[in-house]
Amino acid sequence: MIGETLRGWLGGDQFLTAGLSLVVFGYLFNVARGYLLTLWYRLVQELFITVTISSADESFNYISHWITLHEYTKRARSVQTHTKYDTVVDEMLYTTQKLQLKPEVLLVPATGTHVLSYRGKWIWFHRSKEEGDGTRRYRPSGGASLIKNEKITLTCFSRDRTLIEALIKEAVDSYFKKDEGQTVLFAPLSCGWQRVTSRMSRPFSTVVLDKGFKTELLNDVREFMSSSSWYRKQGIPYRRGYLLHGPPGCGKTSIIFALAGKIHYNVSVVSLSNGMTDAKFSELMNTVKTRSIILMEDIDAIFVQREKTKGKDMVSFSGLLNAIGGILSQEGRILFLTTNHIDRLDPALIRPGRVDRTFMFDLASRDQVRRMFFNMYNTCGAYTEDLADRFVRSIPDRIISPATLQGHFLCYKDDPVGATENAPSGGQDE
Ligand SMILES: Nc1ncnc2c1ncn2[C@@H]1O[C@H](COP(=O)(O)OP(=O)(O)O)[C@@H](O)[C@H]1O
Ligand SMILES: [Mg+2]
Repeated sequence: MIGETLRGWLGGDQFLTAGLSLVVFGYLFNVARGYLLTLWYRLVQELFITVTISSADESFNYISHWITLHEYTKRARSVQTHTKYDTVVDEMLYTTQKLQLKPEVLLVPATGTHVLSYRGKWIWFHRSKEEGDGTRRYRPSGGASLIKNEKITLTCFSRDRTLIEALIKEAVDSYFKKDEGQTVLFAPLSCGWQRVTSRMSRPFSTVVLDKGFKTELLNDVREFMSSSSWYRKQGIPYRRGYLLHGPPGCGKTSIIFALAGKIHYNVSVVSLSNGMTDAKFSELMNTVKTRSIILMEDIDAIFVQREKTKGKDMVSFSGLLNAIGGILSQEGRILFLTTNHIDRLDPALIRPGRVDRTFMFDLASRDQVRRMFFNMYNTCGAYTEDLADRFVRSIPDRIISPATLQGHFLCYKDDPVGATENAPSGGQDE
C-alpha cells in the first residue's frame, strides 16, 4: 500500500519508488525495533531482578568466592582460570614456616552467560569486561599489565528481591566465615590492596616477652580504640603510631600479628623496597582497608636502599613522611613500624605525632627462656622443673634471640632432655 502511494506520487518511476520504499521501510523498522527493545527492557525490568557487581567494588570478591563454591562451577564446561595468591607469603613475616610459594589455580565460570540454580530458582550469571582501558596491575611474579575491570551480572526471574538479597548475604557470610579466628593479611599485590593470605590468629600467649610488656601494649591499643570521642573532643587527630625496635628474631612481627588477632583486626603490610613510587605508595595509604593494622617492616631499609638505588623507582623520604601523614589523617588508624636498627632512623620519622609509642624488644631474658621452655615442653611427659632450671642456667641472659631458641626447640620436639643436654651456647643471629 505504501509502495502504491509512493508510485502515485512519483509518477510511476519504479527505481525511485523501490529506493524510497526501502528508506521508508528501514526507518519504520528501526522505529519499531526501538519500541520493541524499550518494551523488552521494560518487561525485563518488571519481571526480572538484575544486580550488577563491578570488580571495582569489594562485593565482587564475595560473589567470586561464592561462585567457586557453587555446584555449577564443578561441572561448568566453559571455564577460565583464577589464580589465588593465598599461599604467596613474604618470608620475612613467617621466618620459621616455609609456606608453599606456588599459588593455587582455580577453574571458575568463564566470561559469558551461565545458568545455574539457586534455592530451586534459575539465576543467570553473566561475567564480562567493563568498558575502558583497564587498570595497571602489578603481578606477584613481577611486571605489570593493563587489566580491564570485570563485572558480574546476576539476573533472576522474579519481581521480588529476596532471592538475590539472600544470595548476596550468603556470599558475604561464606567469604568472612573462612576468616573467622584468622588474621587476614593484605598486601599491595596488584592494583590496590589484595588479600594475600589468612592464617589462624596467633594466640597472644604464645609470644613470650618480659612480664607486663604485652599488657602495656595491649592496654595502650585498647585505650586508643575506645577513646575516639575523647580525641574528637580534644581536637586531636584520632590515630596512633607505634615503633617496635630491637634485634631480629625477638618477636616484633609476631606480637603485631598476635595483637591483630586479639583485637580482631587485619594486617595490611606494605613493603617500601620493591619498586614502590611515591604516587603508588600514597594511593595505597589512602585506600587501606578498615579494621586493619598498617604494618611497615624494616623501616630503616628505606634509608639504606635510598643510597643504593638513587634515581630508581623508590619511595622518597618526603614521600614516606607524607604517606604516613596521609594514613594518620584517616580516622582510627593504627600504624606499626618495625626496625632492627633504630639508630639509622631519621628523627623526623619517629617524632611524636608519627610515632606515639616506642617499644624495645630485647634478646631473651632468663625468665623468657624459662617460659619458652615451659610452653614448649610442659605437656610432654619428660618435662621437669629441674630440667627447666638446668636449661635456663646454661643460657646467659640476653645473649640469644627467642627465634634462635625456638629453632633449637624445634630440633628437639617432645625431647626436653635432648634440648637441655645440647643447649645452644648462645650467640646472636642476623
Ligand atoms: N618473644 C617471642 N616469643 C615467642 N616466639 C618468638 C618470640 N620472638 C620470636 N619468636 C619466634 O621467632 C620467629 C621470628 O620472630 P619475629 O616475630 O619474626 O621476630 P622479629 O620480627 O623481631 O625479627 C617467629 O617464628 C616467632 O615464633
Ligand atoms: Mg620482623
